[in-house]
Amino acid sequence: MQEQYVIKGGNPLVGEVEIGGAKNAALAILAASIMTDEPVIIDNLPNVRDINVMLDAIKDVGAVVERIDNHTVKICAGSITSTHIDTENIRKIRASYYFIGALLGKYNNAEVALPGGCSIGARPVDLHLKGFRALGAEVEIASGGIIEASAKVLKGTHIYMDKVSVGATINIMMAAVMAEGKTVIENAAKEPHVVDIANFLNSCGASIRGAGTDVIRITGVDKLHGTEYTVIPDQIEAGTFMVAAAATKGDVLVKNVIPKHLEAITAKLLEIGCEVEEFDDAVRVVASKPLKHTSITTLPYPGFPTDMQPQMTIALGLSRGTSTVTESIFENRFKYVDELTRMGGDVKVEGNIAIITGVSGYTGARVNAPDLRAGAALVIAGLAAEGITIVDDIYYIERGYEEFDEKLRALGATMEMISDDKEIRKFILRVS
Ligand code: EPU
Repeated sequence: MQEQYVIKGGNPLVGEVEIGGAKNAALAILAASIMTDEPVIIDNLPNVRDINVMLDAIKDVGAVVERIDNHTVKICAGSITSTHIDTENIRKIRASYYFIGALLGKYNNAEVALPGGCSIGARPVDLHLKGFRALGAEVEIASGGIIEASAKVLKGTHIYMDKVSVGATINIMMAAVMAEGKTVIENAAKEPHVVDIANFLNSCGASIRGAGTDVIRITGVDKLHGTEYTVIPDQIEAGTFMVAAAATKGDVLVKNVIPKHLEAITAKLLEIGCEVEEFDDAVRVVASKPLKHTSITTLPYPGFPTDMQPQMTIALGLSRGTSTVTESIFENRFKYVDELTRMGGDVKVEGNIAIITGVSGYTGARVNAPDLRAGAALVIAGLAAEGITIVDDIYYIERGYEEFDEKLRALGATMEMISDDKEIRKFILRVS
């Protein structure tokens, strides 16, 4: 049976929440961990569905995966017997493409199923493939939807990225780590997780300089060695709780974060009238005044992250006046707007721009999570709404948020994860 979040809205979120490791960094680091024959210990892994799919795929090709605890894993890839990765689950996630860079970089060969992931746009992989080809690989999409990449030898080269792409930057970086000579990636993505993967690879003996700027320089090394590595905190999980505090008129201390990574989100929360206090590894968001309208455009880092666009739109929907949100990264990321309209939101989408007229409140409704971040956004809407909201298809949310409901309950939310209609009725009776 499918599970739902059933939420009785109206409570301001108050208290402290601990943020886990960055999903999108961890996914790439897991793939990169198969590039050494020596043991790698990775800590601060979020315990979410996509991570477990990656770990299963690593086991499938013959690596030894040992769960030390919920957030720590030891991987020893010296025993890998195959460079072919294709399972039903791996086809559902986006990060599977990192196995191409990792396997090609280490074994000069990779056969990996085309990636899936949230349906938020066309999401081509042309830039990844162009980069692998520039390094000397032959790449084709074979029948059955398998990307096949192989090279006699990979040679360092100069690669200009036509578009800023997080996935392609990381993938090309991995493929180039053991290539002969020097590789330069220009117009590289600068997201914190690009830096985290570069740091991980460098801790394994790679030579990557410039990650976090738009020019990354890689000098090929013969091989990588084992390491112990802690994944950075999740910028988007942190941002989601910050915005949840704003939308519910709450007061939340978001702990275990790198405030610098949250600056774009902090700036917008300040603009709409929240107080944001920064500490060394925490931020506190207090929303004691009515929210004000603003304009936001999603952009590559350090711009406002596309992965925070739906959550922020929910908060702007409760502000005074008219806001605009321009989605410049993915063309299909406003699918939640129809659901929000059913909760009383007033949002019109014209092309890639959402025009949001603030309303005085949302009302509870039964809504579908169309993808991971939009799903989290609808939960925030439910927390801010009057009455009961039921969010269906929460498996999308479980792909990227660990214990989302538990963390929200600890902040005072009235919500449960329920799979049975009878239990839903009981919950509603109990909280009404
Ligand atoms: N693009 C191309 N060709 C390519 C690759 C990308 O045209 O070969 C385009 C995309 O269509 C998009 C833009 O370039 O318009 C940026 O895409 P990017 O490659 O940066 O995104 P991604 O690698 O597909 C990752 C995250 C996303 C996150 C984006 C942007 C993972 C597994 N996914 O996707 O995360 O939105 O970067 O930061 O790391 C999420 O966590 O909810 C999520 C969707």
